[in-house]
Amino acid sequence: MLIRVLGSSAGGGFPQWNCNGANSSAVRKRMPGFTPRTQSSLAVSSDGVDWVLLNASPDLRQQINVTPALWPHPDRGPRNSPIKAAVLTNGDVDHIIGLINLREAQPLSVYGSNRVLATLASNSVFQVLAAEKVPRIELPLGRKLPITGDGIELGLTVEAFPVPGKVALYLEDATKPGFGSEAGDTIGLEVTERKSGKSFFYIPGCARMDDALARRLDGAALVFFDGTLYTEDEMLKQGLMAKTGSRMGHMNMSGPDGSIASFAQIKVQRRVFVHINNSNPVLDENSDARKAVEAAGWEVGYDGMEIEL
Ligand code: MLT
Ligand code: MN
Repeated sequence: MLIRVLGSSAGGGFPQWNCNGANSSAVRKRMPGFTPRTQSSLAVSSDGVDWVLLNASPDLRQQINVTPALWPHPDRGPRNSPIKAAVLTNGDVDHIIGLINLREAQPLSVYGSNRVLATLASNSVFQVLAAEKVPRIELPLGRKLPITGDGIELGLTVEAFPVPGKVALYLEDATKPGFGSEAGDTIGLEVTERKSGKSFFYIPGCARMDDALARRLDGAALVFFDGTLYTEDEMLKQGLMAKTGSRMGHMNMSGPDGSIASFAQIKVQRRVFVHINNSNPVLDENSDARKAVEAAGWEVGYDGMEIEL
């Protein structure tokens, strides 16, 4: 199974268009140790020919253009694409807007929880993906589902499961507990390759490690995990935004409740941070934070990172 990180950054990308923080400004100046990143998405394939997107970021067009495996096949006619399906983990802007790039009457399947499919259904712009060409298929929670697209069985199954998190920012309802979040607003995915039985987890958004998640991840070969923030209050401290990580539904890397400490209790062979926010000090490759993360056995995902499982 081939996995490619198309975009390793959180919403806004790196640099973010309106951000003059230390990291965004350094990467804009091409300072050594800072690497630009596009927004959050992975691509996965069992045969190296046909691919499934895990999330569809606003930068998808750019991501396709730098990834030859996602270009039309020279022998498959004047209009074709190896992208056969997209599986969505939430309704966040950074995870769904790329669907708009997949118009042009190209057959593929879109998978999401009932909550995320309801969000797509309530936004008429997504009708540019004509229903007869682009079926929307509900992901059941806690059950494996074979992924198909354009009439092809892709040799991959996905099990979606709820993780602690929050409804998309633009759907928050301040009058309701948890801003109106429900199960299915944020899901994790376990992707299994049928022929090898190998699997990995993709969890780009997660508010905290609970017992159910720890049990599920124990023994995993590979986990891509929410790397939004290094510390809970870094966006406030940098004067970027008056929100903590927990308010945004993201756990931080450091600290006693952080992902590094939480994963120290779980057996996982390979751990990769993705969905990294432009405020995160690990984006400076020479920072103490970056060294601490790597010393703890984590990899910091980057655009174009390829893993064969
Ligand atoms: C998030 O991950 O919290 C969202 O992508 C934020 C946003 O919508 O910008
Ligand atoms: Mn996001």
